[in-house]
Amino acid sequence: MLLEKNNYSKKALLNKTVLITGGGGGIGFEASRAFSYMGANVIIAEIDTVKGSQAQQLINDEFGNENVDFYHIDISDEKQIDKLYEYISSKYTQLDIIINNAAVVPMGAIDAVPISDWDLSYAVNLRAPVLLIQKFLPSMKNSGGIIVFNPSASVAGYMSAYEIFKSAQVELCNTLAEENPENDIIIYSVAPGFVKTDTAVKAVETVASSMGITTEDFYKSQEDYIVDAEIAGVGYAISVVNARRYHGKETMSYQVLVDSGLISNNAEKVNSAQKQVDYDNLLLLFTSIADVFYDQYQGWQKKNLFQKRFILSDFKKQMGLPAESFKKQLEALQIQIKNHQWDNFLSSKDMFTKLQRFYEHQIKLLQSYEKDATQLANDTKLLNRWIDILKDIIDILKKP
Ligand SMILES: NC(=O)c1ccc[n+]([C@@H]2O[C@H](COP(=O)([O-])OP(=O)(O)OC[C@H]3O[C@@H](n4cnc5c(N)ncnc54)[C@H](O)[C@@H]3O)[C@@H](O)[C@H]2O)c1
Repeated sequence: MLLEKNNYSKKALLNKTVLITGGGGGIGFEASRAFSYMGANVIIAEIDTVKGSQAQQLINDEFGNENVDFYHIDISDEKQIDKLYEYISSKYTQLDIIINNAAVVPMGAIDAVPISDWDLSYAVNLRAPVLLIQKFLPSMKNSGGIIVFNPSASVAGYMSAYEIFKSAQVELCNTLAEENPENDIIIYSVAPGFVKTDTAVKAVETVASSMGITTEDFYKSQEDYIVDAEIAGVGYAISVVNARRYHGKETMSYQVLVDSGLISNNAEKVNSAQKQVDYDNLLLLFTSIADVFYDQYQGWQKKNLFQKRFILSDFKKQMGLPAESFKKQLEALQIQIKNHQWDNFLSSKDMFTKLQRFYEHQIKLLQSYEKDATQLANDTKLLNRWIDILKDIIDILKKP
């Protein structure tokens, strides 16, 4: 196990109590394992009795901590959530962490998925996390707590009865974080990446055939995002240890492990000494794109409340972090570069790739709302110029 191999502290979450919905199988099982290893009390809230009790036994046998509890529940049922609350309140001093992991994944085109499956998806993927918030947030407000949501990759067609509620879950996370700023409740989303669990494998079969491609081709197209269930699950547990870093953000399990130093991002980590880089050119390109962003950011602050909220939340959705944090990252890089410290910059390709995608997305938005043809042409030209600068930066960073 990754945590054992790295001699990770077995007491990192000692005496903390974590509720993991759907923790009987797949990623939730691996997350439960990681939490148990770190000494937390783990409550697996699972609809499948066999999976739930097996998970409890397997993990308790593996680490001998006897800290895993299985609670049989259908989280779509409000009364059962009430009973879960009573159970946890009487058995544990307090609930510290909620991992919203359970999901149902109805597959098929929008008009082909029965409305009862849409209803079930709403009930499990969105309504249940709201019910859990309503039950547990008040006590967490007194004692502190961490609530983690589990978004999906926002894939295209044939999964919308699932994806739509998963996207709504991210909005739920964002607004909950906004309503609870800077207090002892930490709220964020961690996307696991693409994990070949039984559910995901079944989903791929439907999506690939609906798209008219083979499952092999589908997996190939997702190659960069495929991660082991263990990596995904451990990412949840480590995110909790370093939770303050993530309040109000959306991150990925893999990234959490890179942030914590448990795994290194070999593909991106480049030793500046080995790289043949035209630093003068890079500095010029970086400065111009950073200035563009600072100007844009200032402009957004001056918009009216609703426009500002739309732009900032759209930015966060596209980039996976708030505009404010992105600006801070740029400023930090700028200071490092001034001191000729290039290492972080040379491993920041992802950041510029995302910004490129964000500007491409802005061009699409522009086309849908800008009615003045001259304005549209000018703004599109400007955005394309920024995209070209970003492409130049990315090209330099790609070079071995
Ligand atoms: N596997 C992936 O590639 C992937 C990608 C992005 C996001 N996710 C998310 O990660 C989470 C785990 O995914 P997974 O692939 O391990 O799925 P999974 O199907 O293996 O696990 C989901 C668990 O939720 C349980 N569950 C379903 N309905 C329930 C209910 N009403 N009450 C209680 N438990 C219920 C299931 O029995 C199951 O054990 C999900 O939220 C999923 O949306 C997965």
